[in-house]
Amino acid sequence: MNKSDSEMMNGLLRQKGYLPAAAIEEADLILVNTCSVRAHAESRALGRLGELARLKRKRPDIILGVCGCMAERQRDHLLQKAPYLDFILGPRRLAELPEIVDSVNSRNSPLLCTGPERDPSPPSLHLSLRENNLKAWLPISLGCNNFCAYCIVPSLRGPLKSRDSGEIIKEAESLAENGYREVTLLGQNVNAYGQDRPGEIDFAGLLEQLNAVAGLSRIRFATSHPKDISSRVIDALADLPSVCEALHLPIQAGSNNVLARMKRGYTVERYLEIISQIREKIPKIAISTDIIVGFPGETEDDFEATLALVEEAGFDGAFTFKYSPRPGTPAAEMPDQIPEEVRKARLDRLIKLQNRITQQKNEALIGSEQEVLVEGKNPKRPGFLLGRTRTDKTTTFAGHESLIGQIVNVNITKATTWCIGDW
Ligand code: 5AD
Ligand code: SF4
Repeated sequence: MNKSDSEMMNGLLRQKGYLPAAAIEEADLILVNTCSVRAHAESRALGRLGELARLKRKRPDIILGVCGCMAERQRDHLLQKAPYLDFILGPRRLAELPEIVDSVNSRNSPLLCTGPERDPSPPSLHLSLRENNLKAWLPISLGCNNFCAYCIVPSLRGPLKSRDSGEIIKEAESLAENGYREVTLLGQNVNAYGQDRPGEIDFAGLLEQLNAVAGLSRIRFATSHPKDISSRVIDALADLPSVCEALHLPIQAGSNNVLARMKRGYTVERYLEIISQIREKIPKIAISTDIIVGFPGETEDDFEATLALVEEAGFDGAFTFKYSPRPGTPAAEMPDQIPEEVRKARLDRLIKLQNRITQQKNEALIGSEQEVLVEGKNPKRPGFLLGRTRTDKTTTFAGHESLIGQIVNVNITKATTWCIGDW
């Protein structure tokens, strides 16, 4: 979602005539897009702002703005820490960036633009302003109606707002007409798409309509919430030719105690049942997940249950995180916060285990033929190309650059944790 927001802001500025600078010292305008999901991301952004303060002192004419979730969550703190900022723009106000930039020159104190949006539909981006000409992010909803106990996102991005399906389809059609082969539908919880638009189509319905868009070969989506994934979405994954055999389905923890305290709304057993139904219908599917270790009160037994779940589920990949207390969320107030060394040690064990499983999953593909969308040259191996399988695995193989943009079949002869292919 953040990458898509950055792309959107980049596009909005280019529409105004701004061009990318060759080096940060030469820029007239600098935006720091921020994330508040974990404390680490926020402290990196603050560090970056400290560096930019020096540049701003040297060249006070530079326009310097902070955007994204930290702009929303830490507005007052930012004003205090970085009074030299020209503006602070919350994630729901992104469409107002061009106006804000125009108003900066006439003001002395930072402009503040946070809180709920004026127009709930994200601006659409002219194709020539997108960063990639083969694959596109396509936001289908904003915000989230869940209250996972650790998560700051709903309080910053607001409740679920689904975009009009007609607009989404039109955008997908125009992408396809202009040579795009792949779209990734984005939302905090795509499976909830349409719940705020009674009488209109739901997520499975949207997938059906997008599957009918001529020329669009690949449809992906993220993120799915296990409690909302319907059998119709599973059928869409199985039956619609353009919907890729890849599913990102965050489990977050492998212990029912922890899941209940996280307020996730499912048990480990239910999760395993869902993925076994999915694999029965779509044997080749790749399933990836998100896992948080060191949630408050997580015992050694709870953590062992997560390791056991990871073994049993056999994920193709996992994004793994140390729990990070977010002020204002219920989990931050819970007793038995886990010490940093314990969280770190658990994360290391989990990553080691998942890397081994990912490698095994990839090795199991040796001898198979994979359909690959060729995205570019492999910068590390002259004469080789890079692409992705339908299951979203990075693939490399020898080939001429004229294949870039095409879908080809590759016989897999080698596999590591990070890459499969023929080399
Ligand atoms: N601490 C650690 N990880 C978090 N995530 C969300 N909030 C937190 C937090 N407070 C993770 C979840 C989510 C992913 C985007 O970030 O795993 O799925
Ligand atoms: Fe956060 Fe849960 Fe919503 Fe995902 S589903 S954005 S983890 S509250």
